[in-house]
Amino acid sequence: MALYVIIVRLLVVAAVASVLPVPGRAAAGAGAGLAIGFYNETCPRAEELVLEEMRDIVHEDKTLGPALLRLLFHDCFVRGCDGSIMLKSKSKKGERDAMPMSASLRGFDEVERIKAKLEDACPLTVSCADIIIMAARDAVYLTNGPRFPVETGRRDGKVSLCEDAVNDLAPPNANIVDLKTYFSVKNLSWKDLVVLSGSHTIGRAQCVAFAADRLYNNSGKGVQDPTLDKAYAPGLRELCEPGKKKDETKVEMDPGSPDGFDLSYYKNVYGNRGLFVSDQALLDDKWTQHYVARMAAAESTEEYFQDYAAAMINMGRMEVITGDNGEIRKFCSAYVD
Ligand code: HEM
Repeated sequence: MALYVIIVRLLVVAAVASVLPVPGRAAAGAGAGLAIGFYNETCPRAEELVLEEMRDIVHEDKTLGPALLRLLFHDCFVRGCDGSIMLKSKSKKGERDAMPMSASLRGFDEVERIKAKLEDACPLTVSCADIIIMAARDAVYLTNGPRFPVETGRRDGKVSLCEDAVNDLAPPNANIVDLKTYFSVKNLSWKDLVVLSGSHTIGRAQCVAFAADRLYNNSGKGVQDPTLDKAYAPGLRELCEPGKKKDETKVEMDPGSPDGFDLSYYKNVYGNRGLFVSDQALLDDKWTQHYVARMAAAESTEEYFQDYAAAMINMGRMEVITGDNGEIRKFCSAYVD
């Protein structure tokens, strides 16, 4: 590994560590009860085992890295980072049944696979909620993003409701005012919004998530969203042309590097090549626009990687269950009804 990359990674770890609680000590306020290295004594190899399994998972199917990162977003924004996205409902009323936002979620079997490994090593010790955040963190690292510490100590929630997902997850055609509201009601700032949206530097989206809004401007007459780069639109339209199964065709969200965690998301958005309305909307606010412009022009990923690690910590503290509350489930995808 190049010396430069090693130095950047060390800087990221140092910067994040400086804003985090001392290992083993509970944080005050949001995220109280979480700590870095929460499992150091009860399951010392927990983090190592998650990374090991994630390496195999991503090696077998590289599209699962981005999928697992997205799973964290859907877990945390709905009833907090409590693993409730994993719960199954026979009556199809759980978070993972929410349409259309959760329809294309993947990675459930992989979380279960990691959980099985941890159950072998340390039965009923590591929560599904913590596995989801560790797996997402490792997905970022395994796509050449930063490696940073995450707090652990979450316990699993027992409630999973479809309507919570419908209410709490921003749709891909959300405007900037709505996006900032979706984040602020969860105690996340405009900076968390613009930094975490950069997760779209990896992964793929189904045409159905953006074609109507971006390519046909909801008119169905081929009129494209005027904020979409005119040179970028024809290729997208070809991929998503009506008649093809729009919900099955997938498009790289960051064309050319869908598995490389880098700054090209910001270059795309700045050049009007953000895929979703919600990506492009980051140019409609003074602060988020300024950040996009700076990251689009940045020569190094250093600042972004530090910001990303800090924003992930913030998201990871969302409405967590700790202490004696909740449970540690043996099977993450247990049925709630
Ligand atoms: C700001 C509001 C956000 C909106 C409206 C949004 C919306 C979406 C949509 C519609 C997709 C495509 C799903 C599909 O068609 O399969 C997607 C993919 C993705 N999102 Fe977001 N997202 C947001 C924030 C986030 C955040 C905060 C993260 C992570 C921390 C994230 C990570 C991802 C990843 C990695 C993918 C690719 C998934 C894959 O390749 O399977 N998103 N997002």
